[in-house]
Formats: sequence, structure tokens, C-alpha cells
Amino acid sequence: MNNFDYYNPTKVVFGKGTHEKLPKEIAQHTSGKRILLTYGGGSIKKNGVYDSVIDALQDYKIVEFGGIEPNPEYDTLMEAVELAREQSVDFVLAVGGGSVIDGTKFIVSAAKYEGEPWDVLAQKEGFSFREALPFGTVLTLPATGSEMNSGAVISRSDRKEKRTMGGAQTFPKFSFLDPTVVATLPHRQLANGITDAFMHTLEQYLTYPTDNLLQERIAEGILSTLIEIAPRVMNDPSDYKAASNLMWCATMALNGTLRAGVAYDWSTHMIGHELTALHGIDHARTLAIIAPNLYRVKFENKKDKLIQYGQRVFGLDGSCAEEAILRTKTFFESLGIETQISDYTDGAEKTPQIIEERFDERGWKGIGERGDLTPAEAKSIVEMSM
Ligand code: NZQ
Ligand code: ZN
Repeated sequence: MNNFDYYNPTKVVFGKGTHEKLPKEIAQHTSGKRILLTYGGGSIKKNGVYDSVIDALQDYKIVEFGGIEPNPEYDTLMEAVELAREQSVDFVLAVGGGSVIDGTKFIVSAAKYEGEPWDVLAQKEGFSFREALPFGTVLTLPATGSEMNSGAVISRSDRKEKRTMGGAQTFPKFSFLDPTVVATLPHRQLANGITDAFMHTLEQYLTYPTDNLLQERIAEGILSTLIEIAPRVMNDPSDYKAASNLMWCATMALNGTLRAGVAYDWSTHMIGHELTALHGIDHARTLAIIAPNLYRVKFENKKDKLIQYGQRVFGLDGSCAEEAILRTKTFFESLGIETQISDYTDGAEKTPQIIEERFDERGWKGIGERGDLTPAEAKSIVEMSM
């Protein structure tokens, strides 16, 4: 088993009808009464989540910032940074999916940062966020795990860039996970959520054996649970049993548990973020496009775990690595997710080349669990996915 540090300070409040506990949770982190409420394009106003949160926060002065878009935009978020400073808010509450939560992680960090925040996102040497305003979340879309981790992904669509950030300061203080929010999710977002959670698990599992038997079994448990509940959630998102399992799987898939003591990959995500930046393809869909071909290109690296995955998760026999890749693709397609770039855009001829050049420029000479996936291989993977 590899050495590891394991740290997760986020408190989870799971279940329905819990918003009345919000003031008590906020009071653990500030005696102040000024709250910045961040949200997206308005789904929370249609499904009752906004009303329920506002009801619970009657004793607070609420400053609202709505309009955070899917794949949250730097320029929009900088407006919220200004607002947070102007209004001297004491606490920030993010109510939404991964984009609102990620955007909020940026807002709370940038509000405490003196220089140009893009320097941090561009990973310029010596620039980092160290402090942040305290914040909590009310999750409305199980998918990213952002509600219980410290990472965020921020876009600058004018430059066709999407960059990651993180650090101990951006763990939410608490997250409210109420599975009844799943009932109002459109099919597209349900499929995205299942796929993203599945891929977070595979990124930390389909590598090579590292003798952390427990972590492998937890990963297989999440994958098997997602396969079991996916058709039920897709058919009836108001099925509470299925929705609550989806929500807990998505959180557990990216809250630091799976990475403890094992090798992890993340190259599907690194290539996927470029497809979102260049073509606006939904995050989860980029993963479904890239992963099967990445597993083909890195087949020898991943063969042992592919066989274990095929046997334990899909119940296959013998040397089933190829079949396990096919089953993965078929699973995504069963959710209505298309797995070729041409299903989403016609203008991608130059994309493989651009991605190779970007990885080269960033010095990403070798990524993945063995640090040996080259920019040229990233280009081949994207070519195979056209
Ligand atoms: O904006 P509103 O109106 O709220 O609508 C949203 C949005 O249009 C809607 N929605 C959310 N909850 C809903 C709902 N509609 C009806 N009922 C509800 N209960 O869903 C749409 C998509 O929301 P978004 O937050 O963009 O989706 P998701 O949670 O999949 O987040 C994707 C973003 O997270 C990043 C992705 O790159 C992408 O930018 N990720 C963040 C990660 C992290 N922080 O750890 C890891 C992931 O790998 C991922 O990269
Ligand atoms: Zn993801």
C-alpha cells in the first residue's frame, strides 16, 4: 500500500428536510450575519430549494449572486468577488451543482487574494491561494463531488481555457445533501452525474494493483452501485432510494477516500477539460468520449486492473480486459450519452493537434498513474475519439 495523508474537514448533513439546521451550522464558523448566497441560472427558484434556504436564513442579511453558468466563467465570478468585498460578507453559501460550488471556491479564495487571480489558475510559479472566506454548500446535483473536496475548475471561454485550482482553504465547512433535489434534474444532467461519478472512481481505480485491497473494494462497490441504480434513477428520478444512493456514491467517489494508498490517473479528465474548453461539450460527456480510447492506448499499463474490474464489476470470466472497456462504453451509452466527438461538433479537425500543443506548452510531458502518457499519445487518443 502506498503512503498517504488523509484529510477531509467537510461536515455532511445528509437527508431530506434538513435546511432548518443551516443557521446552526453557519454559526459554527462565523458570528457575523452577512451571507453571500451564490447560485446558477435559476433551477433553485423553480424547484423550491431557494425558498426553503431563504426561509431557514431569516435572521441573516442575504446578499444574492445568481447567474453562475455551467462551467463557471472567470469574468462572472470576478463580479461576485467584487460584491463579496463591497458587502464585507462573513460567510458564503453556494446553492447548486458542481459549477456553482466550484465558482464559489474561486470567489472565496479570490476575495482574499491581493494580485491577479488568473495567475493562480494559470499555475504560474509562486502564485497560490492561501486564504479564503468560510463557505458551505447546499448541493442540487450529484455528480462532481465538489461538495466534499477542495478542487474547482474555472473557465475562460474567450480564451477557450479551463483550468483547475484547489488547496486546503477550499474545503466547504459543511454540505447539505438532500436527495429529493434529484427529482427535478433533466435526463441530461442525471446521465452526466452518473457518468462523472463513475469516471471519478475509474480514475482512481483503473491504474495498477497497489495492494490497498479495501480502497479497491470501495471503488468496486461504488461502480457496482452506480450500475445497479442507474436505470432506476433515469426512469424515475423521484425514487428516493435510488437518488440517495446516487448522491452518496457521487460524494464518496471524489472526497479523498478512493485515492488513499493507491495510484491514480486523471488523464481522462485532463484531456476532457480541453474538449469542454474548445467545444463546450458537457464535462461528463468528454470523459465518456475519451476514457475507452485512453484505456486502449494505455492497455498494457492498465491490463491487470481492467481484468479485475471486468471480473468483479461486470461478472466476466478470464482475460476480459477488452470486454471490460466495451462494457464501460456500453454503460455510458445506456444512459443516452454519445461517445464520439463528431456526435457533438463538426469543427474538431484541429483539436487533436491543439491538445498535443497545449500539453507540450504546459510541460505535461508525461501524465497518468505512471507519468508516461505523452502529449503525442493524448493526440492519438483524441484522434481515435473523433
Ligand atoms: O444553473 P442552474 O439553473 O442551477 O441549472 C443547472 C445547470 O444548468 C442544472 N441543475 C442543477 N441542479 C438542478 C438543476 N436542474 C434542475 N434541478 C436541479 N436540482 O444543471 C445544469 C448543470 O449544472 P452544473 O453545476 O454545471 O453540473 P455539474 O454538477 O455536473 O458540474 C459540472 C462542473 O463541475 C466541474 C466540471 O468541470 C464542470 O465545470 N467539476 C468539478 C469537480 C470538482 N470540483 O471536484 C470535479 C469534476 O471532475 C468536474 O471537473
Ligand atoms: Zn469529473
